[in-house]
Amino acid sequence: MSNYHIKQFEEYFQVYKKSINQPEQFWEEIAEEHFYWRKKWDKVLSWDFRKPEVKWFEGAQLNITENCLDRHLRTRGEKTAILFEPNNPEEKAEHISYKQLHERVCKFANVLKEKGINKGDRVCIYLPMIPELAVSVLACARIGAIHSVVFAGFSSTALSTRINDCDAKMVITSDGSYRGAKTLDLKGIVDEALENCDGVASVLVAKRINSEVFMKAGRDYWLQPLLDEAYQDCNAEIMNAEDPLFILYTSGSTGMPKGMMHTTAGYMVYTAYTFKNVFDYREDDVYWCTADIGWITGHSYIVYGPLANGATTVMFEGVPSYPDFGRFWEIVEKHKITQFYTAPTAIRALAKQGTEFVDTYDLSSLKVLGTVGEPINEEAWHWYNDNVGKKKSPIVDTWWQTETGGIMITPIPFSTPTKPTYATLPFIGIQPALMDDDGQEIKGNQVDGRLCIKFPWPSIARTIWGNHQRYKDTYFSAFDNMYFTGDGALRDEVGYYRITGRVDDVIIVSGHNLGTAPIEDAINEHQAVAESAIVGFPHDVKGNAMYGYITLKDAGETRDHDNVRKEINQLITDRIGPIAKLDKIQFTDGLPKTRSGKIMRRILRKIACNETDQLGDTSTLLNPEVVQSIIDHKL
Ligand code: WT7
Repeated sequence: MSNYHIKQFEEYFQVYKKSINQPEQFWEEIAEEHFYWRKKWDKVLSWDFRKPEVKWFEGAQLNITENCLDRHLRTRGEKTAILFEPNNPEEKAEHISYKQLHERVCKFANVLKEKGINKGDRVCIYLPMIPELAVSVLACARIGAIHSVVFAGFSSTALSTRINDCDAKMVITSDGSYRGAKTLDLKGIVDEALENCDGVASVLVAKRINSEVFMKAGRDYWLQPLLDEAYQDCNAEIMNAEDPLFILYTSGSTGMPKGMMHTTAGYMVYTAYTFKNVFDYREDDVYWCTADIGWITGHSYIVYGPLANGATTVMFEGVPSYPDFGRFWEIVEKHKITQFYTAPTAIRALAKQGTEFVDTYDLSSLKVLGTVGEPINEEAWHWYNDNVGKKKSPIVDTWWQTETGGIMITPIPFSTPTKPTYATLPFIGIQPALMDDDGQEIKGNQVDGRLCIKFPWPSIARTIWGNHQRYKDTYFSAFDNMYFTGDGALRDEVGYYRITGRVDDVIIVSGHNLGTAPIEDAINEHQAVAESAIVGFPHDVKGNAMYGYITLKDAGETRDHDNVRKEINQLITDRIGPIAKLDKIQFTDGLPKTRSGKIMRRILRKIACNETDQLGDTSTLLNPEVVQSIIDHKL
């Protein structure tokens, strides 16, 4: 069966059809032929979205690390599994072979066991993008412990909330981390967090920046001496298909962050299969995803998906702007990167620098470019296509979520014709539906609605840790017998999907539904504009009106020009219609962003609505300082 690697557009349709008509047979074949099982399944799928309950490959036994490591040892033992590129370009990159990675994971797993971690225990990992992060994730999986990685940019409050929610017994961290020219005191943040976490018995500390840190006797241990003492053999714990693999927190529009729980077999099969096809991965490729392993993108497409395919996956410790804005391109040239996967926010930041940096480096190794995390605006798409891909590398605009575990709507490179700002077609096995406000499915093309998924796929999150009711309420209650994504989307005349943004960002002006993404696209076309975000605020006549927060490329010169305001509204009128014009346009020095680079529209909305007393906790933002400045200059 050759369904594992799709190379043509017609083939996509054939395989897609099969995956929809005979989903169990389809996934069974993929699972059968491309993975290592200790025991095969009794049943491929059982599901009920109304409960909700989904089980894939029930009865099967496996260990995901045997699939990511052991089975490659014979054929790819010396091949680089992880290519670590440090923050400081002067420091040498580290090539960790499959053999070395296997040994490091086994030793680490033995350290976990020695410190009392058993199958099913939760381990919180709060590490920078250094090899120990991937190693500790895999070490947990080796022994059946459930990892919960917390992005090492979150505050101590955010960390303690997550530790307590999943009742983690151990925290793995480092003395500190490098971020560009700065260092962060991670161990200090952990110490602060642990003042509120009684359940944590031990803390393992990796050395990275060689700073002086406080070590609490009987609780805190330096990692390296323990690893030096550890045995290098560690049998993989045999796991059931539906045993939890990890918990990863994602913030909801309200309330506590949600601990999305993913399980073993389905997650493995789906992330491996999507990785192979969405990036057209071939044996000698050097694949680089710039995300942090603290996000789902890193879990699925830095660690598990690539390693399950025996790929070389790059881990980059630094930031795109250090030592200068050429860093990404320097790395692409140096390691001859073949696939490059990043976020629109990064592309916009780099595009803001013009083409000087990108033109300095040889990017001819690149074959496939990817984006993820938010809608990519047309201008950024073209900049990426023209200057990075030189118009010859297809861009895969991949839509998915923490909850979905893997990529859901995406082009398949060299097969699906791409279209700027469109994630295009559902991946194999994915059955999207657009729903109207009355809960009816909207059929046909040239329509828009709320994006739902009608049928389970192998890597869907199985629950919210400790709160199944919330899982049901959030994802399975808005529409009967469907998974609701929370996003809006449109389907064009050929059936391509464009994600228009979170449905909670939709602004209704004079009874018209306006997604924020197309309006921001129009604004961003203006040559003076660097970035924009629009929100609704109450209006006497129209119900809602639009408030635009806009950063200009050259803030000093043009800040108060009413002309720019007029031109922007003209662009919106041209692209969408006068209905979408902005009532207020505030030029700002920056937009509040989450650590993953997403614009926090919720905060901007509160400011526009004069509800600054309800801003909530802004300390976990990437740039909390811009909030006050925006408030001070509010129109
Ligand atoms: C939300 C999920 C999936 C990894 C990173 C984000 C938005 C994601 C796209 C895209 C338009 C996108 C959606 C989605 N989103 N990818 N290609 N085009 N929007 O994971 O933090 O769980 O966020 O990100 O709104 O619901 P996440």
